[in-house]
Amino acid sequence: MQRIAVMTSGGDAPGMNAAVRAVVRAAIHYDMSVVGFKRGYNGMLMRSRDTHDDFDIMTRKSVSDKIHRGGTFLMTARCLDFHKPECQKQVIQNMHLLGVEGVIGIGGDGTFAGLKALADQGFPTIGIPGTIDNDLEYTDFTIGFDTALNTACECINRVRETSDSHERASLITVMGRNCGDIAVHTALACGAEYVMVPEAPWSIEEIAERIKWGVLNGKRSTILVMAEGAFASLTSDVKAICEAHESLKDIATDTMTGFKLASIIEALSGQETRATVLGYIQRGGSPSAQDRILGSRFGARAVELLKEDTYGRAIGIRENRIIDVPFSEAVGHPQPLNRPLMDLVGILGK
Ligand code: F6P
Repeated sequence: MQRIAVMTSGGDAPGMNAAVRAVVRAAIHYDMSVVGFKRGYNGMLMRSRDTHDDFDIMTRKSVSDKIHRGGTFLMTARCLDFHKPECQKQVIQNMHLLGVEGVIGIGGDGTFAGLKALADQGFPTIGIPGTIDNDLEYTDFTIGFDTALNTACECINRVRETSDSHERASLITVMGRNCGDIAVHTALACGAEYVMVPEAPWSIEEIAERIKWGVLNGKRSTILVMAEGAFASLTSDVKAICEAHESLKDIATDTMTGFKLASIIEALSGQETRATVLGYIQRGGSPSAQDRILGSRFGARAVELLKEDTYGRAIGIRENRIIDVPFSEAVGHPQPLNRPLMDLVGILGK
């Protein structure tokens, strides 16, 4: 191949820039030219009024001073209509027009679904896993997870200090709409007492009992880590609990938030409980050394595969070895809950 392209799509993740840099520099090393599409599939569809805003021809210089930066300098977007065959056909036409013979996409499951559709139609694509959620089963790690984890830990260390001083419980919501991997790993790394994830049932009563047990055993504070999607697996009858407690009578239970949950936990446990939502803080920031190295290894390998005319594959890492699998093994295969690690949080948090 003489010309390839790279793009980032879906939620940004720290380390994506390191991967783009590796794609560009490895491709130039192999005498290929590289087009950098902006805003993921939107750039490939050339949706901007001025096409200069859709892509750039990448040089070595385009990627200098980027490896240590969070976000993605190519920008990103979620392109919800890319599942439409007419959009996919348009992209393939655009690639032919620009002389692009293969595309490397960096993102999560949604990004990979688009890349798979293109590969199924004979257009060469390779996927690099980039999402802080670490929610893809075929790979041990995705780019951005390590940084997000370290950021969450640093924030929780701070919350722990103030919680401990005030003898409070702290409920900290971390990212993960469908996957509890960030929550479980953060909880273990922070010595949390309890972790709530979307993949496993949990109850407010159980948390309250856990806090009371901790207080009886001399714990000054309690750290509760919750994945943002964990309300989906809450088994408690929240309405009944709120009706039974005078202090909770005004809580509207149709939509739950961490702040409402903290009040309910406080009423049931008797320990003052405060909520903190970490939100997008976890997604930004300079990538960790691990994520820079992962992005660099993934990016270089993706170029090698296209150079060998191998495509329709997702790159990953297993036991520190770079692997690649057909898209059919990557798309629609979410990471299952790491049950042993979750149980360890409970055992060690006592
Ligand atoms: O990047 C993954 C993720 O952070 C999820 O954990 C979260 O649910 C989602 O993206 C939110 O992203 P956005 O608000 O940008 O759609």
